Amino acid sequence: LMMSEISEFRVLESQIKDKLQLDHVIVVPGNTDEQQSVKKALGKACAQFLSKIITSDQTIAVTGGTSMAEVAEEMNPLPEAMNCTFVPARGGLGEQVENQANTICAQMAKKANGNYRMLYVPDPLSEDTYHTIIEEPAIKEILELIHDANIILHGIGDALTMAKRRKTSQDILDHLTKSQAVSEAFGYYLDHEGNVVYKVRTAGMQLEDLEHADYVIAVAGGTSKVEAIKSYFEQGKSNVLITDEAVANELLKGT
Ligand code: BG6
Repeated sequence: LMMSEISEFRVLESQIKDKLQLDHVIVVPGNTDEQQSVKKALGKACAQFLSKIITSDQTIAVTGGTSMAEVAEEMNPLPEAMNCTFVPARGGLGEQVENQANTICAQMAKKANGNYRMLYVPDPLSEDTYHTIIEEPAIKEILELIHDANIILHGIGDALTMAKRRKTSQDILDHLTKSQAVSEAFGYYLDHEGNVVYKVRTAGMQLEDLEHADYVIAVAGGTSKVEAIKSYFEQGKSNVLITDEAVANELLKGT
């Protein structure tokens, strides 16, 4: 990178920080949709940011997804973070194993030399099962860790892309289309004003829990996610965004 490019990014970052009212913004070069290496760079930026902010005895809740998988890939031992514990943010959301929060959380912990706990909750639960399962002592203990997480790492997806990837039933797909769902994050589907239009019923982190965390870090890049990112941050409870240059430029259009 040229010096001028680096300072150009600092300007982009601070403009987005102001526009979306965030505490930290990191922009990496390129467009995730065009090059896989950009997703890797997002992962690296997130792993580096985490190593700077984390302290001992903290709990880190992580979602699934391919962006989070890159964060796990780029994670290194965290010497500043003795006795930290990684937990999945929510139970099964219908993702394939390599995209599941449990899998990613275990990989992150391994690379970071941290502890981890799994949340064994089946995919979309019936109302009855949900209420029974969250009262199970072993599950309850992990749910408490999740609700009190100090740091949350999550992806943001395009609503219909995510719903289809998760093999969501046709009636829910219809509902998402009708209610004009734009974005998805940790099982919540939001419209263009950031209102929740559908929520996958599973155990774990709820939108309200984001308020208790010190850092809620969104990692999402690629111009196909621009509308989703805007929608998520309309009522966004995340205070850090790690994205790419292509998204950054789009986010600033019309300002
Ligand atoms: C899911 C997360 O696993 O991944 C969501 O629960 C996120 O928060 C989604 O929207 C994004 O996936 P990807 O593959 O685009 O990073």
